[in-house]
Amino acid sequence: PARIAIRGRAGSGRRTLLAAFARIAGRALGVIDTAQLPRDADRFGRGLQLALRRAQLAGLVPVIRGLDEVVFDERDGGEIAREVCVAHPGPIAVISPPDVSPPFPVGHVVIDLPTLSETERTGVWQRALAPTRFWLRDHAGLAARYRVGPGVIHRAVASLAGLDPQLPADDRIDSFLRQSRDLRLADHARRVDRLATWSDLVLPPDIMDSLRELVGRVRHRRTVFEQWGMGRTMATSRGLTALFQGQPGTGKTLVAGAIARELGLDLYQVDLSKVMSKWIGETERNLATIFDAAEDGQVILLFDEADSLFAKRTEVRSSNDRYANLEVNYLLQRLDSFEGIAILTTNSGGSIDPAFKRRLSFRLSFPFPDEDTRAELWRAHLPRELPRGGELVFDVLARKYQLSGGYIRNACLRAAFLAAQEETSLHQHHLERAVALEFAELGKLSTAGTID
Ligand SMILES: Nc1ncnc2c1ncn2[C@@H]1O[C@H](COP(=O)(O)OP(=O)(O)O)[C@@H](O)[C@H]1O
Ligand SMILES: [Mg+2]
Repeated sequence: PARIAIRGRAGSGRRTLLAAFARIAGRALGVIDTAQLPRDADRFGRGLQLALRRAQLAGLVPVIRGLDEVVFDERDGGEIAREVCVAHPGPIAVISPPDVSPPFPVGHVVIDLPTLSETERTGVWQRALAPTRFWLRDHAGLAARYRVGPGVIHRAVASLAGLDPQLPADDRIDSFLRQSRDLRLADHARRVDRLATWSDLVLPPDIMDSLRELVGRVRHRRTVFEQWGMGRTMATSRGLTALFQGQPGTGKTLVAGAIARELGLDLYQVDLSKVMSKWIGETERNLATIFDAAEDGQVILLFDEADSLFAKRTEVRSSNDRYANLEVNYLLQRLDSFEGIAILTTNSGGSIDPAFKRRLSFRLSFPFPDEDTRAELWRAHLPRELPRGGELVFDVLARKYQLSGGYIRNACLRAAFLAAQEETSLHQHHLERAVALEFAELGKLSTAGTID
């Protein structure tokens, strides 16, 4: 009997293709979602068997989906499905993400659906809209912003039903795509709302130049990789992965936000505690979801203080180490083909696996601020509206205290509250006291020197 596997990312049009095949044979599809089957190994196998038989009796072509997500303690769902499928007499199809081996013995058909190029996506938008009365102001812009497959494109167009076809549908489609992306990310990442602006940054000119280059790489990606053909001649990933390293409070997280804002993208901070799972295979799946969603567009992923995820591979001593290394290997492989934008930050570059470092397209060390920069940081953190008692001498503070921007920010806020509490304007002595309190909190008796 026919065995067919269609692989591709969510929304790549896997089901649409199968439905077209089935139609040629005069049949319809019966989708079996493994998420609805019982969650223990024995009952799962029987449930699957039953579902296949039912579809066959109803004259449908059974399509199994979600097999890659079924894992039991002892064995994975694919293994069980393999046994059930061998025994089933009728045709079976499976839908899966790329690179998943189908649960069939030799002799089956595999079709891998590619991801479309930007130009191809523009064409799909046009074809999907052609039979409707809806129209877009900017097909190309939408194709550039969202790297979605034909499946998602057709669903987005279907969501327009009932709207006024006089108006352009761009905004509606945009928010549909945004919502479906947010839904995919919601379990593992959170959107960062307040983003700094470029002018909030106090950094040496060479770092600012590097940041401008980074932003430029995102802006001109299409020109360079597609129109100029560099994507064909370069075997590198087209994604942008940046590593920011530097001591705490030097502005790494701040800069990630400013970059997102500058590019008009949403910043999603990945929640590593939710991504990293003790279950075998679970961490990879979580990461796959995040990377896929990020590739589909309009997002920068922030792996803040990413050391735990990107740490050096350990020598294998226990089975736990082996799984940790599997995760690292998955990450390495995924980064190679990653086409989205991700920023990793770390306080100590030394703990990141060198194999990762080589794969990152951009590395930037955030310097500890020198005296002039510190004075500038003090100035930058006290807004103009703030009432001042006498002149504030930032140079003195900068010289006396070796503080990074983060601590300077804390001290400024603290000083403002001290002044407010005394119902006076902000004086130099408030700033001094605030610094002393910061040091004291950190358990340092001396008020001079560095906090780290
Ligand atoms: N280079 C900088 N320019 C302006 N503000 C800074 C800078 N570095 C740190 N800050 C201030 O310190 C706060 C914390 O910095 P953050 O970006 O979280 O540091 P990091 O992520 O490197 O630990 C920022 O929100 C900002 O107010
Ligand atoms: Mg940070």
